[in-house]
Amino acid sequence: MKEREEFGSRVAYILALTGSAVGLGNIWRFPYMMGEHGGAAFLITYLFFAAVIAMPIMLCESLIGRRARTGTYDAMKILSPNKGWRLLGGISVFAAFTIASYYSVVGGWSIDYLVRSVFTGFKGLDHYSAAALSYRVFSSPWEPIIFHTLFLLTCSTVIFFGVRKGIEKISKLTMPLLFLLMVIIMVYALFLPGSFNGVKYLLKPDWSQFTPKMMAAALGQSFFSMSLGMGAVLVYSSYSKKSDNLLSSACWTVLFDSGFALIAGFAIMATVFAIGANPGSGPTLVFETLPYIFSQMGLDSPLAARLISIGFFLAVALAALTSEMSMIEVSVSHFIEHRGMSRAKASLLVFVLAWIIGILCCMSFGSLSQFKLFGYTLFDLFNMVSSDVLMTLGALGFSIFVGWVMDKAVVRDELTNGGTMKGNSILFKPLYFIIKWVAPVMILIIFLTNLFL
Ligand code: TRP
Repeated sequence: MKEREEFGSRVAYILALTGSAVGLGNIWRFPYMMGEHGGAAFLITYLFFAAVIAMPIMLCESLIGRRARTGTYDAMKILSPNKGWRLLGGISVFAAFTIASYYSVVGGWSIDYLVRSVFTGFKGLDHYSAAALSYRVFSSPWEPIIFHTLFLLTCSTVIFFGVRKGIEKISKLTMPLLFLLMVIIMVYALFLPGSFNGVKYLLKPDWSQFTPKMMAAALGQSFFSMSLGMGAVLVYSSYSKKSDNLLSSACWTVLFDSGFALIAGFAIMATVFAIGANPGSGPTLVFETLPYIFSQMGLDSPLAARLISIGFFLAVALAALTSEMSMIEVSVSHFIEHRGMSRAKASLLVFVLAWIIGILCCMSFGSLSQFKLFGYTLFDLFNMVSSDVLMTLGALGFSIFVGWVMDKAVVRDELTNGGTMKGNSILFKPLYFIIKWVAPVMILIIFLTNLFL
């Protein structure tokens, strides 16, 4: 059998995980969720969940992956004789594939806006025309499909090149660039007159917003942002070296991801308040409010506005690309390892399937906008089922699997690299307690309250 690929180093593994984690979830979803749920109160709840629940769940996925050294479905097969657990593996492959299909549509929009920033800029837009522009772009019969195709094709090409020459290379290239771009944008935003109100908004908690709904939103956001519950972390970790420290890698990833979300949050909220736009405008924040802001900025300093908007949408597109790669890799590795396909064939197959479903999602903003299942358009349905339901259940499943199904000695062995890591050995007890009790119970309570309230 051919030798299984591995990341070249621990840094490469952490960067790939960070690439998966840092995505539209950080730049597009996190700021608008914060805007909708009262700024700082949401932020604090989010950071708490990130450290106490999301990080241990990430650890669960990564230790399953590295122990089994295979994709999600087969990992369950290898680690437990009970066939029921394969269902969890199967569902996570399905869920990652569904997210990949609609995520590519939003990735396509960001390339579209990048191209617009480069060629025309956002001159002379007011609130209404910015909204009209996004409506026109999203519902156009061909434009989103072209950009979705471009986005998915780029991603599938990287995946086709494999772990070292594809995923590792691109992550090493884009992650530093992404951080640099976002920091520059944040610094610029913080110097805009009036931006201070945005900073205040993010730092002053309004605890009246602290409700079960908000907690569920914060927990869901931490899972989404860290790519949990769908086998993405599991698959990437199956390519990590046996000598890597899984605990510190997970901590670094959570730190980078939350740090990036904060930087993006400050950049966007500072700008929103400086221009006097509405922070609670929801999912349209990035694609409607920001172009309007760039056009306002352009009145005083056209060149800066142009450069900032190019930098911003480039950052969105790159962040989305590395995240999409991890979702596609979940399915591709499944077809390679479970079905014995070549990487080329598996990449092509996943590309074609995700491309077709993505096209349907594109059309759900145009000609298929009247087509609804359970009251949702296709795009909304995929978004809701995969991120609100499957992801939470996946995370719950992985924590129960590690805490209750896998042998404790195996879990300890994997977390401490056979007992050779002192710090991890000391931390094992509390971590195991969180994985076995705290995380599943909290996820379940929050999931059920959200479902019934
Ligand atoms: N983490 C990504 C983001 O923040 C989204 C993502 C990538 C994801 N892979 C995933 C979400 C797997 C859930 C599961 O945008």
